[in-house]
Amino acid sequence: MLYNTDVNAREVMAERVNKKNGFKITKDDIYITQGVIPAMWLSIQNSGAKPGDEIVVTDPMYFPFFVAVETCNMKPTYWKIHEEDGYKFNIESLKKAVNKKTKLIFVCNPHNPSGRVMTKEELKGIADIAVDNKINIMVDELWDDIVFDGRKHVSLATLSPEVADLTVTSWGISKTWGLPGLQCGYLTATPKTMEGLKKHAKGVLRGTSTLGIAASIAALDRHGEYWIRDIMNQLTKVRGIATKRFTEMGCTVPELQGTYLMFPKFNVKMTHEELYKLIQEKAKVGLGTGTEFGPEGEMHLRMTIATSEAILGEALDRIEKVLKTVK
Ligand SMILES: Cc1ncc(COP(=O)(O)O)c(C=O)c1O
Repeated sequence: MLYNTDVNAREVMAERVNKKNGFKITKDDIYITQGVIPAMWLSIQNSGAKPGDEIVVTDPMYFPFFVAVETCNMKPTYWKIHEEDGYKFNIESLKKAVNKKTKLIFVCNPHNPSGRVMTKEELKGIADIAVDNKINIMVDELWDDIVFDGRKHVSLATLSPEVADLTVTSWGISKTWGLPGLQCGYLTATPKTMEGLKKHAKGVLRGTSTLGIAASIAALDRHGEYWIRDIMNQLTKVRGIATKRFTEMGCTVPELQGTYLMFPKFNVKMTHEELYKLIQEKAKVGLGTGTEFGPEGEMHLRMTIATSEAILGEALDRIEKVLKTVK
């Protein structure tokens, strides 16, 4: 019998990451946070970075990573990934981006907003650079269940004990389970790093709510398999529809390998701001503005496609209709 306690939740979380991600940890190697976002701040605090030190972020990237860098008075170093290059993570560019002032590399895999799932070679490349230069890593694996076409998600920290020693890996229940409001995340790190994280978190981060704990136990302990299978079936359907429709509208559509976030590039003769406003105000469809994710997001808009075919179809019809008025 599992009770809704922090201890039981950590047991279930450790079991989940051992089974799914290939870790070999116990409940004592898990720390519960209020979602993945606090793990970004915590990793910066624990990296030993001083104001002005550098943190690698990809461009584009989920914008709270940029916010964490800014609020801690660190300097972001942009590791650019390009749509024309299929958003490959170019290891030679990462090598050029790091220097003596680099204290942390932020990794998001599966990647928001590009939808890329990193290959084992890319992850090895990141691991080698981090180990050679003794740079800490924080990897956000929140989307690791949402991976298409039989791809396998690989956890960076499982590649070697050396990289595990430098890495904080974070997960949560907000995406697979659609429960962002419960603000429940969990992270793991090797014991020495964990000790540092707990010191920094003390008195600032207070785990999460009882509801978040109860929901994690219910989701991760027993109900996972059928839920994930069924949402992946639905997401595969809507991914096909959205890819086809955006392509027909003349957009460049990056291959969605993971996540349920589409990041089409609109090939229209107007500014990014005009495009965003047009779709929001005339089509009345709320998409994420691409530039929020970094300069590489210019002329991209981000759409969450996790919905029914009917709702998705309606949104796409409205976007198509307003685009026709400007071409
Ligand atoms: C990559 C990524 N990390 C973190 C979050 C936020 O996660 P949480 O709600 O667990 O803080 C999101 C939400 O969109 C996300 O896409």
